[in-house]
Amino acid sequence: MYVDIGNVLDGTPGVSRDALERMDESVAAAHERIESGRADAEHGYAALNLPETADADEIRAAVEPFGDPEAVVTVGIGGSALGAATLTEALADESDPDAYYLDNVDPERVSALVESLSLSDTVVNVVSRSGTTAETLSNFLVVREAMDDAGVDWTDRTFVTTGREGNLRSLAEKHDLPALDVPDGVPGRFSALSTVGMAVAAIQGHDLDALLAGAADEADRLSGSLFESPAYAYGATTYALAQRGALTNAMMPYAESLEYFAEWFAQLWAESLGKDGVGQTPARALGATDQHSQLQLYRAGPRDKLVTLVRPREREDRAIPETELEGLSYLGGSSLGELLSAEFEATEASLAAAGVPNVRVEIDRVDERGLGELLYGMEAACVLYGELADVSTFTQPAVEWGKRAARGLLGGGDFEEADAVAEKTTLV
Ligand code: PA5
Repeated sequence: MYVDIGNVLDGTPGVSRDALERMDESVAAAHERIESGRADAEHGYAALNLPETADADEIRAAVEPFGDPEAVVTVGIGGSALGAATLTEALADESDPDAYYLDNVDPERVSALVESLSLSDTVVNVVSRSGTTAETLSNFLVVREAMDDAGVDWTDRTFVTTGREGNLRSLAEKHDLPALDVPDGVPGRFSALSTVGMAVAAIQGHDLDALLAGAADEADRLSGSLFESPAYAYGATTYALAQRGALTNAMMPYAESLEYFAEWFAQLWAESLGKDGVGQTPARALGATDQHSQLQLYRAGPRDKLVTLVRPREREDRAIPETELEGLSYLGGSSLGELLSAEFEATEASLAAAGVPNVRVEIDRVDERGLGELLYGMEAACVLYGELADVSTFTQPAVEWGKRAARGLLGGGDFEEADAVAEKTTLV
């Protein structure tokens, strides 16, 4: 992963080179803390060891009995879906089994998906670290019933990825379902490079070893200086900008295949860093599409943002045909890839000219290696930011509050959070 922070130096808000150099001492201290957490495989920090600890062979062996199905449906939510979706969307190939994600419990979407699938040729991947998440368990029960109704033996078509205990583990044991373990110490949003994120990619035949090798390369680049580590350059700069008022971070990949990556990043950044009254709100944008919408606000709206521009350095290209119209002759002989690159650089320059801080993040290609670098790099950046901001990066009390309230409302336990719903004030 390559990170260029040159366009944050003169922005408003901006961070001077001197300020970054002064901050480097804190980065060194944070790096030490991170390395010690990794050495002890502490909760959360253990995620940064996945390039070494994840077992690609185990994942391939677990999904091998399912062969080459028509479709794979992952039933999971938040960190139990977004990493896998990021990988499969980015690496999608026409010959792959179709990958679907059932995260939300919108009845119309769930019914439409279930009815559209050939269930006898579908594999169901149920993912929940806790094994208790209401959305995941409910969606699974719906899919299971649909399989029963269609005369399909769901126990032959289902595998689970879960923690050592919980309802899902009990279900897997009861029905002797193949089960992958969610590794210890790896929170959902940091699990893309584990069993949680990689099982569907394995069914699709993607190269898990290259993915982990890319992540390992990025891990090797972590060092005690933000000037030597792309991931820390990103984490330290975004933190410094947030301190100076850049409270929104617009993640803008210039590749449709990375649209889901922006979604994944939004969860990582928001759920990890939004604590104790601090944090940076992630916004999602897509280049060049959002140059024709959100860019107006990013360039000319409130000075409370930074824009992260992401692109692959190489991609498959397509020539733009010659045209008979003189005014458009400049397009002929060029390519869509060149046009997209020009759009990227124009946006970068336009933001810089207006003093809006922006960071360039690049990978060589959108392939397994590039994705390994990108996902690992962003996770390490997030962990560094959390250290600098002194927040508990690996917890999610607000998310858990909502889970308890919803369970309480459905009668799934006596949770005081559910009472708060009844106390809602209504006006008008
Ligand atoms: O990052 C997180 O911890 C969350 O987003 C969880 O992944 C999400 O709430 C799903 O939890 P579980 O895997 O326990 O079903």
